[in-house]
Amino acid sequence: DIPQVPLANGTTIPQLGLGVFQVTDPNEVKDAIKWALAAGYRHIDTATYYQNEEAVGEAIKESGISRHDLFVTSKLWNNVRGYEETKQAFQTSLDKLGLDYLNLYLIHWPADGYVESWKALEDLYKDGKIKAIGVSNFEQNHLENLMSQTEIKPMVDQIETHPFFQQKELHAYLEKNGIQHESWSPLGGGRNNALSHPLIKRLAENHDVTPAQIILRWHVQRDEVIIPKSVHQERIEQNRDIFAFGLDEDEMQSIADIDAGKRVGADPQDKEWLAKSTTYGGPKK
Ligand code: A2P
Repeated sequence: DIPQVPLANGTTIPQLGLGVFQVTDPNEVKDAIKWALAAGYRHIDTATYYQNEEAVGEAIKESGISRHDLFVTSKLWNNVRGYEETKQAFQTSLDKLGLDYLNLYLIHWPADGYVESWKALEDLYKDGKIKAIGVSNFEQNHLENLMSQTEIKPMVDQIETHPFFQQKELHAYLEKNGIQHESWSPLGGGRNNALSHPLIKRLAENHDVTPAQIILRWHVQRDEVIIPKSVHQERIEQNRDIFAFGLDEDEMQSIADIDAGKRVGADPQDKEWLAKSTTYGGPKK
């Protein structure tokens, strides 16, 4: 079974979810979710930016699984800032997903204006429209700035994390502050990633599992929530089978040692990129 991780507000999040970033073909989205739900996943991570909320909603509806048993996350894109604007964008996401509440809603990036947007998330949370609220790609400076001006602490921070970009300092800061570390691109996003690193391959052979399973298991043992993306049924199933074996302390340390400080995504401190990102709405289909 997939473990549930407690959040600071008393709700829980399944430790493994399916990511659907860069999956824009509605049929591909629906197939991936269908396979994931059949494999026991109950947690789906989407975002307005991914432009697939409608297909995610259809897949959920077609599954017949009770809403109560599902955990659905979406995210506010950078082109929307401000209290009313954020509330409207949230409602648009709900409508596209065909849902009447979200389990988790995140501010996607720390683009300027996130404090006003956060106030909208706080009120939506108090109204029960979102069961837990959080941020994504926020580093310590953004979190401190946000928390010094608002009432409710983010319950989750979803950040790029993989063996070549381990986020050791931010991980410790989140842990100290009771903010759940959630990892995007846990496998390193499929480019020059750790799947083919000799250490990861050796550990995979020793445990008779795949390199992807070693990496995902490493995340799990760091108490992260993970949302590996795949559109292949056998990989979706493989990525779920990471709860019946364990890495020992030496093995965990050997992976800690291959950290290379190498991102695959944007740098949250890159103000120019953040400013530019507020001017477009997401990839075109
Ligand atoms: P695909 O969707 O074609 O299966 P991340 O979640 O770190 O961003 O990684 C996603 C990338 O890793 C995608 O390119 C995905 O490809 C690939 N991937 C997902 N699961 C596995 C797996 N078990 N083995 C190898 N590659 C995988």
